[in-house]
Amino acid sequence: MKAIRLHHVGGSESLLYDDAPNPIPKDNEVLVQVYATAITPTEFDWYPTFHTPEGTMRPFPIIPGHEFSGVVDAIGSDCKDMQVGASIYGLSNWFIDGAQAEYCVTVPANIAPKPVTLEHTQAAAVPISALTAWQALIDRAHLSAGQQVLIHGAAGGVCSFAVQVARHQSAHVITTASAANSAFVKALGADEVIDYRITPFETVVREVDVVLDTVGGDTRDRSWAVLRKGGRLVTVAADAEGSKEQRVRDAFFIVEPSRNQLANIAHLIDTGALRPVVGTVFSMENFRQAYEQKPVRGKNVLRIAQKGARQ
Ligand SMILES: NC(=O)c1ccc[n+]([C@@H]2O[C@H](COP(=O)([O-])OP(=O)(O)OC[C@H]3O[C@@H](n4cnc5c(N)ncnc54)[C@H](OP(=O)(O)O)[C@@H]3O)[C@@H](O)[C@H]2O)c1
Repeated sequence: MKAIRLHHVGGSESLLYDDAPNPIPKDNEVLVQVYATAITPTEFDWYPTFHTPEGTMRPFPIIPGHEFSGVVDAIGSDCKDMQVGASIYGLSNWFIDGAQAEYCVTVPANIAPKPVTLEHTQAAAVPISALTAWQALIDRAHLSAGQQVLIHGAAGGVCSFAVQVARHQSAHVITTASAANSAFVKALGADEVIDYRITPFETVVREVDVVLDTVGGDTRDRSWAVLRKGGRLVTVAADAEGSKEQRVRDAFFIVEPSRNQLANIAHLIDTGALRPVVGTVFSMENFRQAYEQKPVRGKNVLRIAQKGARQ
């Protein structure tokens, strides 16, 4: 198969468009024919990209890209309730080869039926961002109707979903974004947009129930002061993981696959409550541009061309 692979430790500049062996699913796995996968530029900084769960280096070459939309091509003998030919979307394990390839393997618990109202190139941008937003606001922060939430980086991949999830929960949604993204963020459902380049948010926000931080550093440090007593800060910014501050490490989490949540998110998309934000769709061969041309909003996506693919 064709794949985009890393042959040594590095970033997107080290990727090569290659011929690779087709993956073979184990008994508990499904083989997915990948139709589209989204670009996650920070993946090269993640521990599992180059390490095994045991802490040794992963063997090269390595295929990145762990969210996808595609079609089930083959099913391991232990997989129940799966059908060859079904359109699905979801995640693959962070520690194994990903979806920047014509085929990838995953387990049934990590995938769900694709939202029927989306093209594969739209559905591929959903799993990481929507699950992160959902797990941050619902599972961790327990955001409920009438509460006030401050969402940093509202035009980004994760937070463009977070704004919509918070709106769906009937929360009062305060956001930070650059001025150019203000109208876009309001259209997603924000009640207030603060231009972080002009106005320090702590001068206009106070006593919020929840802060969702995807920016980290100084933005997160200044956010504690705007929480009400007993309010909750959740962060997914990578610098939180190694922080010296216990409260910052406690506020950090890494998104987890969830079949139930993917199914629920698909339902919310199909009923119009959520929509994905896609930057630009690139062909597989133009993967380098997909990394270099940063999207103004949402995530870039690679379309994986398939000979004889089911539609
Ligand atoms: N831990 C996890 O499980 C997990 C999961 C997913 C993502 N992440 C991490 O979350 C972070 C965000 O990911 P993403 O895909 O949403 O990124 P992204 O699409 O690149 O979005 C980043 C956004 O941050 C905004 N921004 C930059 N500086 C800001 C500031 N000082 N104040 C407010 N907003 C600011 C930008 O807004 P403007 O364009 O308006 O300037 C941009 O829209 C990344 O570091 C990623 O690695 C972690």
